[in-house]
Amino acid sequence: MTSISDILTASYSSSREADTIGKDLKKLIGAESNYEIIRLALGCSLGLDSFPEPAPDAKGGVIKGLQLFGDEASCNYLWIGMLGEVLRRRGEETLTLEALQKLVRDHWHRGILLLERYREETGGDFKAFVDVLVRKANLPEQGDATLPSTEVAVGGIEAKELDEAARAMLLQHLRTVGVNAEIRETLAGPRINRYKLFLSKATDRKTLDSHLDELGFSLGIGNTLSLTDAREPKTCFLDLPRPMEEWQAVDTVHFKRATASFDLNAMLLPVSPGVTIEGKPLVFDLATTPHLLLGGTTGSGKSVCLNALLLSLLSYAQQRPLSFALIDPKQVEFSGWRGHRQLFREVATDSAAATQLLETLVDEMNARYERFSTLGVKDLAAARRKGEQAGWIVLAVDELADLVMQDKANEALLVRLAQKSRAAGIHMILATQRPDANTFAGALRTNCPARIALRVSRASESKIIMDEPGAERLQGAGDMIFRGGDGSAIRAHSYNIRSDDAAVLLR
Ligand SMILES: Nc1ncnc2c1ncn2[C@@H]1O[C@H](COP(=O)(O)OP(=O)(O)O)[C@@H](O)[C@H]1O
Ligand SMILES: [Mg+2]
Repeated sequence: MTSISDILTASYSSSREADTIGKDLKKLIGAESNYEIIRLALGCSLGLDSFPEPAPDAKGGVIKGLQLFGDEASCNYLWIGMLGEVLRRRGEETLTLEALQKLVRDHWHRGILLLERYREETGGDFKAFVDVLVRKANLPEQGDATLPSTEVAVGGIEAKELDEAARAMLLQHLRTVGVNAEIRETLAGPRINRYKLFLSKATDRKTLDSHLDELGFSLGIGNTLSLTDAREPKTCFLDLPRPMEEWQAVDTVHFKRATASFDLNAMLLPVSPGVTIEGKPLVFDLATTPHLLLGGTTGSGKSVCLNALLLSLLSYAQQRPLSFALIDPKQVEFSGWRGHRQLFREVATDSAAATQLLETLVDEMNARYERFSTLGVKDLAAARRKGEQAGWIVLAVDELADLVMQDKANEALLVRLAQKSRAAGIHMILATQRPDANTFAGALRTNCPARIALRVSRASESKIIMDEPGAERLQGAGDMIFRGGDGSAIRAHSYNIRSDDAAVLLR
């Protein structure tokens, strides 16, 4: 058994890499002593559930125990007690100095790399970096626990290849349903393992398709597998969702990275609802979409996704004149927006207010067209080049079904907007849990060509949202299929922006 005084007089070090990065971070944070940054790193790494990989070397700078853990007055026994407990949980019966030094070395190394990753993700913005640290300190995120140190993706979610064992297991399962495939590529994204399969017998495509549920059953992942064709002969993608405990979080950090990448010269109204299965931001132009429907069962993540879309628009409201018209029959989803300076009118939370807001928008649209005709232009962008002052307006409705059921007049107003508001610079994002003939019919449907399908319970509901089945196989919690007006389908996962982060973004 090692005594406290041995621990305090001993030396501790970590890798040369941790040392170099640590010095940079120390400067960024404005820390006065090395121990501050090392303790921060240790805290970050110890907060993850998994054990760190061994640090690559121990060639970094040395710190004495007394400095690292502090004296009794600064509660050194707390640190030592905690590290001792970690060792005990690892199965070390007695606390040896060597084991403690190794534990510090490995966590120090992983912790510094984590801090560096957070720094990179926040683009060197000190405030955002501190926000991340504060957030991490309060609540370790789901995804982090699954990130062993060597896989920490500096700069974001990194899709990795799957190992030999995973490939072999899939091939074996495929054989049990009578399919002989060759795995050409693999990819482990934030939530999904994707296999690119080559089927030498083209008829195997059909066999595989009809055995998806069986395959899901034997793999223990239910009916959430999906199969799509690749743009190569006899090749398709088989997507196997991982269980929720193995997801990587797609959160505010990824959202901010996406919005920072928006190119306002290339797109009028870029928006990003989430990341693709490879972890890359999915970005499209709402101005060309031009109206978007989000459909999915209750709890599938519509409101979360809708908020991410709106916040992504808000991210450049300083550069592009833009205002928001929000209708929220549930009265809770847009509460953070109340009184926001970027609102076209105050958030409408009852049917009468909604009708009034829609009528105002129709009047606004018509007034704009009159001004455009005087100017001899066809759309808002051209009008603005000739001195028009009006900016773009995004109308968002959470729970379209409620709005339409409350008053059929609302539907007629929405249809009028859907038919011709695009050129006037007014775009709609409509969310609904019941995209049926009663609430999403005829003219509204044809004028909302872009869709985001979140999870639904039945294939028939998927067909109503995006004209084909598939959304019933989604995982829920923001798992989605985006269908652009051109019919292309992209699987993505929405950003889960925590409400305290949203409050900051809304400031
Ligand atoms: N992208 C996401 N990542 C993780 N969890 C999510 C995500 N989107 C939604 N969820 C979870 O699902 C719950 C319901 O989402 P919500 O948007 O309110 O669903 P809906 O509006 O479709 O009823 C959220 O409170 C959250 O726990
Ligand atoms: Mg909702």
